[in-house]
Amino acid sequence: MMLLVLFLFVPLLFVAPARCVDWTSTPFNPPSFPLAVRSPYLSAWLPQGNGSALNDVWPQFWTGQILGWAGFVNVDGTSYSFLGAASVASANFTKATQKSANFTATQSTFVLSAGSVDLTVRFLSPVEPSDFTKQSMPFSYMAISAVSTDGDSHAVQIYSDISAEWISGNTSLAANWSTSTQDALTHQIQLQNPAPFTEINDRAQYGSAYYSTLNGSGVTYQTGEDIIVRAQFISNGKLDNILDTDFRAISDNWPVFAYAHDLGTVSSEATTPVVIGVGFVRDPALEYIVADGVLQNRSSYFLNSFTSPSDAAVSFLQDYDSALDRAYTFDAQVNSDASAISSEYAGLVSLSIRQLVGALEITLSKNSDGSFNTSDVIVFLKEISSDGNVNTVDVIFPAWPGILYLNPDIGKLLLEGLFAYQASGQYPNKWSVHDLGASYPKAIGHNDGQDEAMPVEESGNMVIMALSYALKSGDTSQLSRYESLLDQWTQFLIEDSLIPNNQLSTDDFAGTLANQTNLAIKGIVGIQAMAKIADLLGDSSKSSNYSSIASSYVSQWQTLATSSAGNHLTLNYGNDSSWSLSYNMYADKLLQLDIFPESVYTMQTEWYKSVDSTYGVPLDTRHTYTKSDWQIFTAAIMTDTSVRDLFISAVTKFASSGMSSQPLTDWYDAVSGEPESFRARPVVGGHLALVCTE
Ligand SMILES: *[C@@H]1O[C@H](CO)[C@@H](O)[C@H](O)[C@H]1NC(C)=O
Ligand SMILES: *[C@@H]1O[C@H](CO)[C@@H](O)[C@H](O)[C@H]1NC(C)=O
Ligand SMILES: *[C@@H]1O[C@H](CO)[C@@H](O)[C@H](O)[C@H]1NC(C)=O
Ligand SMILES: *[C@@H]1O[C@H](CO)[C@@H](O)[C@H](O)[C@H]1NC(C)=O
Ligand SMILES: *[C@@H]1O[C@H](CO)[C@@H](O)[C@H](O)[C@H]1NC(C)=O
Ligand SMILES: *[C@@H]1O[C@H](CO)[C@@H](O)[C@H](O)[C@H]1NC(C)=O
Ligand SMILES: *[C@@H]1O[C@H](CO)[C@@H](O)[C@H](O)[C@H]1NC(C)=O
Ligand SMILES: *[C@@H]1O[C@H](CO)[C@@H](O)[C@H](O)[C@H]1NC(C)=O
Ligand SMILES: *[C@@H]1O[C@H](CO)[C@@H](O)[C@H](O)[C@H]1NC(C)=O
Ligand SMILES: *[C@@H]1O[C@H](CO)[C@@H](O)[C@H](O)[C@H]1NC(C)=O
Ligand SMILES: *[C@@H]1O[C@H](CO)[C@@H](O)[C@H](O)[C@H]1NC(C)=O
Repeated sequence: MMLLVLFLFVPLLFVAPARCVDWTSTPFNPPSFPLAVRSPYLSAWLPQGNGSALNDVWPQFWTGQILGWAGFVNVDGTSYSFLGAASVASANFTKATQKSANFTATQSTFVLSAGSVDLTVRFLSPVEPSDFTKQSMPFSYMAISAVSTDGDSHAVQIYSDISAEWISGNTSLAANWSTSTQDALTHQIQLQNPAPFTEINDRAQYGSAYYSTLNGSGVTYQTGEDIIVRAQFISNGKLDNILDTDFRAISDNWPVFAYAHDLGTVSSEATTPVVIGVGFVRDPALEYIVADGVLQNRSSYFLNSFTSPSDAAVSFLQDYDSALDRAYTFDAQVNSDASAISSEYAGLVSLSIRQLVGALEITLSKNSDGSFNTSDVIVFLKEISSDGNVNTVDVIFPAWPGILYLNPDIGKLLLEGLFAYQASGQYPNKWSVHDLGASYPKAIGHNDGQDEAMPVEESGNMVIMALSYALKSGDTSQLSRYESLLDQWTQFLIEDSLIPNNQLSTDDFAGTLANQTNLAIKGIVGIQAMAKIADLLGDSSKSSNYSSIASSYVSQWQTLATSSAGNHLTLNYGNDSSWSLSYNMYADKLLQLDIFPESVYTMQTEWYKSVDSTYGVPLDTRHTYTKSDWQIFTAAIMTDTSVRDLFISAVTKFASSGMSSQPLTDWYDAVSGEPESFRARPVVGGHLALVCTE
C-alpha cells in the first residue's frame, strides 16, 4: 500500500465517548452501516459516529461524498421521511422515529415508526462467493415493508429516489438519463462525457447508475428536480409518470429519479416488501496488460449471462425472494462459524464481509468475435483509501483469510493476474511486484519496475498465498504453471530474509527499517512454503534443500530476534527495548508448516498480555497506533485463549466506540481509539483469521 497523503489528526484532549442513541443496535453500533456495498464503485454507507438514524444524514460513498438517496412514507396523508436528509420547503413532513438498527454479514436493517405504522427498511448486498454471475452483479437491494402498530388499518404509500450523485466524483459534470418501462421500471443515469478507466475522487468517470423496481398496480415514477418530485409525492402520495429531459449537471437543480408504491391499506400483518434495486455498471470494467504491453479490456463476469445491464437489473429484482433466503443461510453460517470463537467475534466478522467483497470484481476477456472467453477469469481488487492500486499483493495478503473462507477459487483468480503479468516477462525486478497498476481500474503493470518496493513482503506473500490456495483446494495447477516465478522469488528470499535490508514492510506508513524481525518471519515462512511446493510438484531434492535452509534460518533468527532478557521478540535485531506484533507467524500456522518453535508462540502470548492498551496492542514500539487486521492475525496464533479474546475485544471495542464515522478502518490508535486515515479497506478480510483455518 502506498500512502500518498496522510492527514494525522491529533486531539489535545481525549474525552471518553458517550454514545446516546435512542434505538437498539444489534450486535453493536458500527462506525458506518453498509447500505449498498458490492464493488469499488457501488459503495453506499450510513455514517454513524455516535449514532445517526437512517433519516438523520445522507448516505455516503466510502470517501464521504454524499449519495442522494431519499425515502418518504405517507400514512393516512401525513408524510414522514425515512431515508436521507432531504429538505423540501414547499411541503410538510416530519421524520419517522428509528426504533432499531442491525447488521448481519449481508444485511443492514432499520425499523422506523411513522405514526401508527412501522417500516422495516432492509438493505441487502448479496454475498454469493460460489456463483460468479451473481457475485459479480454490481446491484444491491432496498426492501421496505409496512405494518400497522395500533390495530387499525392505514393508507400507506412509499417513495424513494436517487440523485445523479451516484455517477461521478464531480457534481458540476453534465449527466443524461433515461427511464425504461419494459419488464420493469429502470432509471439509468450516466455522464454525458464519460472518460473510460478514469476516476475523480475515487469515483469511476464512466458507467451508469441504475435504479429499478418491478412494475405493478400502484407503482408510479417521475424524474425531475429534487424538491419538485419529492413535494409531488409528499402532497399527493403518488408520482406523475413524467420524465425530465432537460439534461444538465448533477448539481444543477438536482435531478432525481424516483418511484412511488401505493401499498393500499396496511393492517397488522406486514406487507410484502417493495423491492428496489440500485446498481452501478461499467463495461469494460478494467483494462489489463497482457503480452507485449497490449491492453486488454475486461468485462464484469455477469455480462456473459445477460443481453444488457438493464436485463441484469430486472433479473436481480425478480430474484429477490431467493436472494434473501440465500442471504439468511449465509448469514447464519457466518454467525455460527464465528460464534464458535465468541459472540463478540461474530459481530466483528459480520461487519467485515461486505467491506471485503465490496473491493472485488470478477472479470472475463473477450474473444476476437466479441464473445466472452469464459475460461479466462481474473479477479481484481481495489486497495481503497490508502491509495487506489490494483491487486496490491500486501492488501490481498491481509484479506486472504476472508477470501479463503468465502471461496479459495477467488484467491487463485486474484493471484492469476499478478502471476500472468510477471510470467509475461515485462516486470524487470527479481522480487514480486507490489501491485498490477497504480490507479484502479487500470491494471497496466509496472514495466519500469518503479512500483512501491516491498521485496521480501510481496515475494513471501505470493509464495505463501499460492501454497495456501493449493492446500485448501487440492489444485496444484497454478503452482506448476508458475513454478519458475515462485522459485525466482524464493531465491530472493534466501538472499534477503535472514538479514533483511533496509526496506518497507506492508506497514509502509511506519517507514523503512533494516533487520525487521517480523519481515524475516515472512521471508523464512516463504522459503519453507516453497519447500512444500517443490514437494507437491515432485522435486524432492529442491524441497529438502529449501527446507534445510529455512530451518537453519529459524535457529539463527531466534538468536538475532529475541530480546536479551528472553521475554519477547524485538521489532528489529539488536534493539532490546523494541517489540512489534509478530503477525507473520500466522502463515506458519495457516500452512501447517510449524517451523517456528512453540516456545516463540508462548513467549509472544505472555508478552502481549503485558503490553495491552485500552484499544489493543500497538503495532510496534515506534507509535501508539495499531492495525485491526494484524491484531486478529496475532489473536489467531496466541497459545492462550484469554489473550486471543483480549485482541478480539479490543478491536470490537474500537469498532463500537463511536469514535469513527467512516466505513471500518483497520488503522487506529490503540491508546486513544482515534481512527487513522484508512477506511473501507478490504484488509478487514483478515478479521476472519480465526474462522478460515477450521
Ligand atoms: C462521539 O462523541 C464523543 C464524545 O462526545 C466524541 O469525542 C467523538 O468525537 C464523537 N464521535 C464522532 C465520530 O463524532
Ligand atoms: C405546512 O403546515 C403548516 C402548519 O400546519 C401549514 O400552515 C402550511 O400550509 C403547510 N404547508 C403545506 C405546503 O402544506
Ligand atoms: C434485524 O431486524 C429485523 C427487523 O426488525 C429482524 O427481523 C431481524 O431478526 C433482526 N436481525 C438480527 C440479527 O437482529
Ligand atoms: C468539475 O467539473 C467542472 C466542470 O467541468 C470543472 O470546471 C472542474 O474543474 C471539475 N473539478 C474536478 C475536481 O475535476
Ligand atoms: C447520454 O450520453 C451518452 C454519452 O455521450 C450517449 O451515448 C447516450 O446516448 C446519451 N443518452 C441519452 C439518454 O441521451
Ligand atoms: C405498470 O403496471 C400497471 C398495472 O399493471 C399498468 O397499468 C401500467 O401501464 C404499467 N406501467 C408501465 C410503465 O408499463
Ligand atoms: C477498450 O475499451 C475502451 C473504452 O470503452 C475502448 O475505447 C477501446 O476501443 C476498447 N479496446 C478494444 C481493443 O476493444
Ligand atoms: C481463453 O482464455 C484462456 C485462458 O487465458 C486462453 O488459454 C485461451 O487461449 C483463450 N481463448 C481464446 C480463444 O483466446
Ligand atoms: C542487521 O543485523 C545484522 C546481524 O546482527 C548486523 O550484522 C547488521 O549490521 C544489521 N544491519 C543494520 C543496518 O543494522
Ligand atoms: C540449495 O539452494 C540454494 C539457493 O538456491 C543453492 O545456492 C544451493 O546450491 C542449493 N543446494 C543444493 C544442494 O542444491
Ligand atoms: C529501539 O527501539 C525503541 C522503541 O522503538 C526506539 O525508541 C529506539 O530509538 C530504538 N533504538 C535504536 C538504537 O534504534
